Amino acid sequence: MFDSGVGGLSILREVHRQLPAESVVFFADQAHVPYGPRPMLQIQGFSRSITAFLLERSAKLVVVACNTASAAALHDLRQTFPQTPFVGMEPAVKPAAATSQTRVVGVLATPATFQGVLFASVLERFAGGVQVIEQTLPGLVECIEAGDLDGPKPRSIIGRGLEPLLDRGVDTLVLACTHYPLVIPLIQEIAGPEVSVIDPSPAIARQTARLLDERGLAAPPGHEGRTEYFSSGDPDRLRSLAERLIGLPGTATPADWQKDRVVAVEP
Ligand code: DGL
Repeated sequence: MFDSGVGGLSILREVHRQLPAESVVFFADQAHVPYGPRPMLQIQGFSRSITAFLLERSAKLVVVACNTASAAALHDLRQTFPQTPFVGMEPAVKPAAATSQTRVVGVLATPATFQGVLFASVLERFAGGVQVIEQTLPGLVECIEAGDLDGPKPRSIIGRGLEPLLDRGVDTLVLACTHYPLVIPLIQEIAGPEVSVIDPSPAIARQTARLLDERGLAAPPGHEGRTEYFSSGDPDRLRSLAERLIGLPGTATPADWQKDRVVAVEP
């Protein structure tokens, strides 16, 4: 599983809850976080190298636990690694459109996610009959990376971002960046109790389970899955945030970018 940073932990938490028998190698590309403002081709290159790293560590399936990397690279990854099953993130516009009463839905994501053809195709397939308003929350990923989940800074970023959406009658918010479910209590508090906030992680974990079953790759029941964290930034900080945010301990190892390859720095 990989993300630019700690956002993917929101997916890991749910995968671990639904599939405790599975072991997970979690890679956070914290040397390059945030991905959101970067060019698509660069994110594609990062995603390829990280996937190769995960496959070298015997991954049987890859969860792209990052909406930005999914938007920029999922198609390319499936072509580059045709034997590997991938689970990617797709903005949850479909369930939002099905439940919105006001018929106005807000999507919160990074700039790169909105640029990709994936988002255009999601709108085309699922947004019939609802108005979809896009919003980015610049700086919020950095606050979450720093472990600031409800201080004045994230509060003001979310407040400023949600105001125009709420003014336009949004009653359903789609979290289309995996960092954002880590601040759901704050988003819900600012949006108010009338607004439904859609966290895609349970659906992603179900899709992971389905794919593992279909391919006969599921771990035997009763097996106890292990979690290994790798970071191209500071693995100890990643591990301590993982323990604090999702309560999942594991080993933490540094990984280095060597040109366009990721290499673990084993002790
Ligand atoms: N967690 C990410 C996502 O789902 C990436 C955020 C970023 O690095 O900008 O989009």
